[in-house]
Amino acid sequence: MQVIQPFHVMALLARARELEAAGRSVIHMEIGEPDFVTPQPVIDAGIRALQDGYTHYTPAVGLQALRERIAEFYQQRYDVAVEPRRIVITPGASAALQLVLAVLVNPGDQVLMADPGYPCNRNFVYLLNGRPVGIPVTAASAYQPTPPQVREYWTSEVAALLVASPSNPTGTLLGENSLREFHAIAAAQGGSLIVDEIYHGLVYGEQATTALGISDDVFVVNSFSKYFGMTGWRLGWLVAPDAYVSDIDKLAQNLFLAAPTIAQHAALRAFDEENINILESRRREFRQRRDYLLPALRELGFDIAVIPEGAFYLYANCSRFTDDSYSFASQLLEEAGVAITPGIDFGNNQPETHVRFAYTTSLENLQEGIRRLQAFLQRC
Ligand SMILES: Cc1ncc(COP(=O)(O)O)c(C=O)c1O
Repeated sequence: MQVIQPFHVMALLARARELEAAGRSVIHMEIGEPDFVTPQPVIDAGIRALQDGYTHYTPAVGLQALRERIAEFYQQRYDVAVEPRRIVITPGASAALQLVLAVLVNPGDQVLMADPGYPCNRNFVYLLNGRPVGIPVTAASAYQPTPPQVREYWTSEVAALLVASPSNPTGTLLGENSLREFHAIAAAQGGSLIVDEIYHGLVYGEQATTALGISDDVFVVNSFSKYFGMTGWRLGWLVAPDAYVSDIDKLAQNLFLAAPTIAQHAALRAFDEENINILESRRREFRQRRDYLLPALRELGFDIAVIPEGAFYLYANCSRFTDDSYSFASQLLEEAGVAITPGIDFGNNQPETHVRFAYTTSLENLQEGIRRLQAFLQRC
């Protein structure tokens, strides 16, 4: 337990709620989930599922109809064929990550991951008595590991490389060539490639490449949380190589029994055209927000070296203002009523000079946030 860190931003969020309870206004740019509620077609399907009495367990790997629907989605959206039997429905990407790491990691094994990166990953590895190894990434490689780095870090102790595209906290993507090279390196070393595609769909230029188009021998994690706007339903999925599915099934039975049944029935409607149209209009709104916030922050003096093409985050170098991003975020909250996430939540690679802005709030709120930031920076 000593190595497992809390989300430091939770302390800031709790403080923000306290300030709000005392009547202060806070602009939230720290929250890692869409501000939109789940679209109505999915809510209606959830209500119907309850009324129809779908309140029992499903198979541990999930409803067959949902596995098939997800396979169809891969075919439609990416032109990639995925056997439904390789798709395991999970309680969020969180559970998918735990399942895949649990089948791959033995005590002492290393798992390579980008630093900065999604904070829970290293803790999942610690839980398995494995060793997370952060690959320090910089703006020069769009905050993604490069194939030469992965080669350099891959020793006989490494079991897997875990990457995310688009990434949290940087919003940057991995191209097809990098994914191919990562897969080739992992295969040559007898290890595995895990790709977290949870922010797929929330991409503002060309569609992101799914690693499933590269090989059947990769693990892909995804979720209904972000693009589909269903964080609270706790539903995600894992696509695994065929040979691992029965072990994953066995683990899922033991760890979770099954993903939430009502959520699974509701998610059957998530791929309908009516729902996708709503999600696509939200995606356009996220893009508008990014296109406003990015230049506005740069103008204030934050250095954002790479234009993030996905997710809803801007990862900014704040060294012009501070070398202690946690105190900076805390002061910004107390004095200006703007909540952001300090770099420390994402690893050990220069966290003190970086912060993450999430554009999971309306354009008007972002504009107000920028006004407050500007006034704050003038004062300090
Ligand atoms: C990169 C990444 N992976 C996984 C998750 C977990 O998401 P969930 O369990 O809601 O699907 C998150 C949540 O923020 C994330 O940012």
